[in-house]
Amino acid sequence: MNTHTIEEQGGTSATATKEQQILADTSNSSSDKGQATLSTKEDSHPRFGHIRSFVHRRSHITQGQQHAIDRLAPKWTIPYQDQLLDFATVFGRHAPTILEIGFGMGETTEKIAQTRTGDNFLGVEVFPAGVGSMLNRIEASNLHNVRIIQHDAVDVVNHMIPPESLDGIHIYFPDPWPKKRHHKRRLIQGPFVHLLAQRLKSGGYIHCATDWENYAEQMLEVLSNEPLLCNTADGFAPKPDYRPQTKFETRGFRLGHSSWDVVFKKI
Ligand SMILES: C[S@@+](CC[C@H](N)C(=O)[O-])C[C@H]1O[C@@H](n2cnc3c(N)ncnc32)[C@H](O)[C@@H]1O
Repeated sequence: MNTHTIEEQGGTSATATKEQQILADTSNSSSDKGQATLSTKEDSHPRFGHIRSFVHRRSHITQGQQHAIDRLAPKWTIPYQDQLLDFATVFGRHAPTILEIGFGMGETTEKIAQTRTGDNFLGVEVFPAGVGSMLNRIEASNLHNVRIIQHDAVDVVNHMIPPESLDGIHIYFPDPWPKKRHHKRRLIQGPFVHLLAQRLKSGGYIHCATDWENYAEQMLEVLSNEPLLCNTADGFAPKPDYRPQTKFETRGFRLGHSSWDVVFKKI
């Protein structure tokens, strides 16, 4: 998915939907035994959820992607459920587990999973064409260390990821929602980052990248303000070697754009 598509999404979505603000609920009555969860004042009302960072719309899916979903989803995807995962069972082994939010068409996930064979990668994506594409990559590259959940990552992190269970989190080029009135839809917000930080093990990392300067500054500010995290760099981080440069990023560099990485560790 490219930035232009996202800009269009951002342009149409906020006028169509009015949802409740994300609230951090740190009460002891939360569903994961006293750990903070993201919830809303109208938790029990199905129409009120957190503000979505994406827009549901009929998106184009190729026959090959649909065929991959029909054939391969039972093997490599995990259905969304309100129950904590046991990663050893899900992946069939004990290994460090990295959560990736919004893998898009999966090029980056595939490359990283191919080189870091000792790590498990749990990819969360809402976009059906992306899920189909990732399933094709899993088969084509014979990847045994990737599993997929097709659902809103906020719900997944809230309800399926156990506290202090993750070794890393990747969020690469999240939808930038460039218009100021849509900034509330951006994924990297204080309450969600707090929740993510709680899901990390001590020493685990969160790595975000973006090519939107204003979002990069927001990422740096939000992560710096999270008391459970500390920056691994003095400001923005050099791009870690394991993150490949995407096609989209390469095109951006040719046009004179930049990209920014932020890498923080759980204290
Ligand atoms: C701009 S694309 C980037 C894709 C990929 N990471 C890359 O670098 O090419 C952002 C992706 O995040 C997904 N996304 C946005 N919000 C999400 C959410 N709350 N849960 C899961 N996926 C989400 C979108 O569907 C989209 O595919």
